[in-house]
Order: sequence, then structure tokens, then C-alpha cells
Amino acid sequence: MNDGEGTPEAGAQGRRFGPLGTALVIIPTFNEAENIRAIVGRVRKAVPEAHVLVADDNSPDGTGKLADELAAEDDHVQVLHRKGKEGLGAAYLAGFRWGMEHDYGVLIEMDADGSHQPEELPRLLTALKNADLVLGSRWVPGGRVVNWPRSREIISRGGSLYSRLALDLPLRDITGGYRAFRRETLEGLGLDEVASQGYCFQVDLARRAVKAGYHVVEVPITFVEREFGDSKMSRDILVEALWRVTSWGVGERVGRLTKRTEPKSSG
Ligand code: GDD
Ligand code: MN
Repeated sequence: MNDGEGTPEAGAQGRRFGPLGTALVIIPTFNEAENIRAIVGRVRKAVPEAHVLVADDNSPDGTGKLADELAAEDDHVQVLHRKGKEGLGAAYLAGFRWGMEHDYGVLIEMDADGSHQPEELPRLLTALKNADLVLGSRWVPGGRVVNWPRSREIISRGGSLYSRLALDLPLRDITGGYRAFRRETLEGLGLDEVASQGYCFQVDLARRAVKAGYHVVEVPITFVEREFGDSKMSRDILVEALWRVTSWGVGERVGRLTKRTEPKSSG
């Protein structure tokens, strides 16, 4: 079980972790004009040495233009303009690639809407000193959500529980989107094969990290529901998540079964 102490792999082996290097906070945006300035300002204040990359999918509300203004004012802020809305997963994959090409040592996922508090980022980074991946977690002791309707909490808790059971993962918050990766971890996840687009992108990366034997630690966070703008959650995103998680789970079980029934090779 994981109560925020992390998956046992690396901890048990007493592994040593290298220095972290410069952090890049990747903020995917689609119609976040009301939020972008505040969130970038909070990140810059909370972790002044970190850099920010806004990954905007050509938001009709002009978020990309506002981000360009922030980048012009501050050499720690950059913008990745993408041609159109392709989902959270695609935006993060593009942001990760950009960050790795530019030699960042730590890649961070953060929502634009204030749900992930930049003031908690130092705690995630401290945990990453002794981990391969840190998940900001709502569902470990000390974690919580503020201003979420009960219905949303049930979907989120249910999604994590289902993923935990279907994929046999020792994690509590598997769908969360406030995370810190070492670049070496991302390099080991096989990102070229990731096709998940919506929230299940988060499940996909967590699953890959655990299966690859990385040391994944959950740190409690307070998730604050957005005040401005709208969530992009949709029925399609939930259907994609349910479908993919179920098929990964079935695939893993079939894989284990066929391995068990294969004739043993000599030796
Ligand atoms: N570039 C881009 N393209 N950004 C997107 C897209 C897209 O297609 N869809 C959403 N985003 C951005 C939003 O602008 C926001 O900054 C962030 O991704 C999260 O989107 P929300 O719409 O606010 O997500 P949410 O609050 O419903 O979901 C959060 O919780 C989920 C788990 O319960 C996110 O943190 C999810 O990652 C997480 O799985
Ligand atoms: Mn949100």
C-alpha cells in the first residue's frame, strides 16, 4: 500500500538519486485568458529559479497572445503555440519534448486554472530529490479538494479506485495532473507510444512509471476548483478513460495468463 511513502522499488534498494537540474513548469491552456497571468505570476514567485512553458492550443479567447505578452516581459517564460485543440495529453507530450530538447532536468505538469497551487511546488520538488516521479495527491492523508461538487469528487475518487484495481497500481491519486518528473524518468516511459488524450493520459503515465520500476511518491496537495472559466471535462474524455484503462487492465491480465501457460524453456 502507498500512503504517500512511495512505491517500494527504489526506496527498498536504497538507490541514490542525482541532482535535479533546472525545472520547467508546463502549463497547458485552452481558453484560460482569465487565469494565465495569475498562474504564471504565482509560479514565478513561488519558485523563482524555475522556468514556465505555456502550451496553448490556439485558444479562441486569446490566451496564447496573453502568454506571449508574459514571455516578452520575463525571460523565464516561454510559449509553445500549437495549431488547435488536441487534448491535454498531446499538449503535455509536446511540452515534454520541448523541455527535454532544451535540457531541463525536471518537467512539471500544472493546470492553468489555479487548481494546482504553485505555493505547494517546493514540497513536490523536495520529494523529487529522492524519487523518480512525484504525484501531487488529493487522496492521501493530508490531501484534499476545495469547492468541488460532490459529483466531481465521486467521479475522481472512482476513477482512481478503478485504475488502482484494474491496473494493480499501489497509488491513491492516479488521475491527478500536478506532477514532477525527472527527465530521465520521462525518457524511460516510452512517450512515443502514448496515444491517450484526455485525463487518462495521467493514468497512462503513472502506469508506465510503476511498470518500469520507477520510484513514485505521492505528496498530499490541496486541489482548489477553478473560479474562472470552464473545465474541459466532457463525456468523451470520460469514455476514453474508461475504455483505455479497461483495455490496459485486460491486456495485462491476458499477458500474465499467457506467460503462465507458456511451456518453460530449459534452464
Ligand atoms: N493545450 C491544451 N489543450 N490544454 C488543455 C486542453 C487541450 O485540449 N484541455 C484542457 N487543457 C488545459 C486547461 O486549460 C487547464 O489548464 C488544464 O488543461 C486542466 O484542464 P481542466 O479542464 O481545468 O481540467 P479539470 O479541472 O477538469 O481536471 C483536472 O483534474 C483531473 C483529475 O480529476 C486536471 O488536472 C486533469 O489533468 C486531471 O486528470
Ligand atoms: Mn481544472
